[in-house]
Amino acid sequence: MLALTRAVPASLAQCELTHLQRVAIDIGRARAQHERYENALRQLGVSVHRLPETEDLPDSVFVEDAAVVVDELAVLARPGAESRRAEIPSVAQALAPYRALAFVVAPGTLDGGDVLRIGKRLFVGLSARTNAAGIAQLAAFLAPFGYRVAGLAVSGCLHLKSAITAIGTSGAGDDTTVVLNPAWVDGSRFGAQRAIEVAPQEAMAANVLSIGNSVLVNASAPRTAERIAAAGFDVVLVDQSELAKAESGLTCCSLLLA
Ligand code: GLY
Repeated sequence: MLALTRAVPASLAQCELTHLQRVAIDIGRARAQHERYENALRQLGVSVHRLPETEDLPDSVFVEDAAVVVDELAVLARPGAESRRAEIPSVAQALAPYRALAFVVAPGTLDGGDVLRIGKRLFVGLSARTNAAGIAQLAAFLAPFGYRVAGLAVSGCLHLKSAITAIGTSGAGDDTTVVLNPAWVDGSRFGAQRAIEVAPQEAMAANVLSIGNSVLVNASAPRTAERIAAAGFDVVLVDQSELAKAESGLTCCSLLLA
């Protein structure tokens, strides 16, 4: 497995914010956390390819939002936040050696963080960042390969994957466990075999990153981590406390290619 990542830019403090108040960000600390995240991926056997820093693009470390990658194709997103659209060409360039490319175009908007894939089904959050036209374009790009795309409402959080992620998914997706915050999304929509709710007081904990049987969980969510471990997964705690001030998540900081 390959993970594309990107360096934390010095401009991170000027990032987009939707639900959080702006507070000072210690860039050195954010960079150290991002490096530990990349090392955690390497320790799980993932090859990490870090894209060059894009100094003037504050949210560019959140590479997941720039594309939706399946085995047959990479669909380059058109981010809902205008400040993020200039992130796309360099991610397209990085993906070109690995996949055929397709591009979401106006009036569509789509953030990769709104796309949850379970087997051949893709659930897409209708959020402040992703609109119906973007979802329709994604569906048209992926239909020839047998993927089914469904939009669904998400509220209270930035992206669909702030509210729900899937772990332990095999190719077919019929053995999937979801980790979710039920206040933000209706978990019955996803056909998962098992659902783990985030612990009270750990609202942001549903954004976990699944690599085989291992699950990266934010270190700020120890109770949710216990629930995931009790379900039989190998939990790796990752501290993202500084990046979280920029509304980061564990999935946002890499773009995974199987
Ligand atoms: N700061 C992350 C985002 O708004 O996309």
